[in-house]
Amino acid sequence: MSAAGRTQDRPADKAARYAEIAEEIAAVLDGEPNLVARMSTVSALLADAFEPFFWTGFYLVDPDKPRELVVGPYQGTLGCLRIAFGRGVCGAAAETGRTQIVADVHAFPGHIACDSRSNSEIVVPVRDAAGELIAVFDVDSTAFGAFDQTDALWLERILQASFG
Ligand code: SME
Repeated sequence: MSAAGRTQDRPADKAARYAEIAEEIAAVLDGEPNLVARMSTVSALLADAFEPFFWTGFYLVDPDKPRELVVGPYQGTLGCLRIAFGRGVCGAAAETGRTQIVADVHAFPGHIACDSRSNSEIVVPVRDAAGELIAVFDVDSTAFGAFDQTDALWLERILQASFG
């Protein structure tokens, strides 16, 4: 299907697609406690649901190296293995605990170019049931300005439901 024919091109359709995929994720994860299995499932289903998602996955807070992220389950081309808190978009999300939406990653100070085809990005902090930061969820797109508040709202909701 051409990108133009995809249902999520209009904001309302994108929200509807997120709602469907959120239900699907909850159904597949039901009863599965393993974190790698859960993160792999979330990455796979979201990467497949949205055409602009070029790199989709997790950077985990490394329990052995506080203030460092290490790559976790993902879909896409080779990702950098480690990112320090405060570096690039993922590091900014980990440092601030806030979702980062970047319309042009080349204009973001300290952006880490794992793949030069990435042009925009959203990174959402992931917390466990105790509210502890355990990871960030990173989605990159080859398009500029691919992510908006609808993505932020739904990704935050899905990650909270899956890991909170
Ligand atoms: N672009 C990210 C690095 C991770 S990858 O793109 C997979 C950043 O600046 O945080």
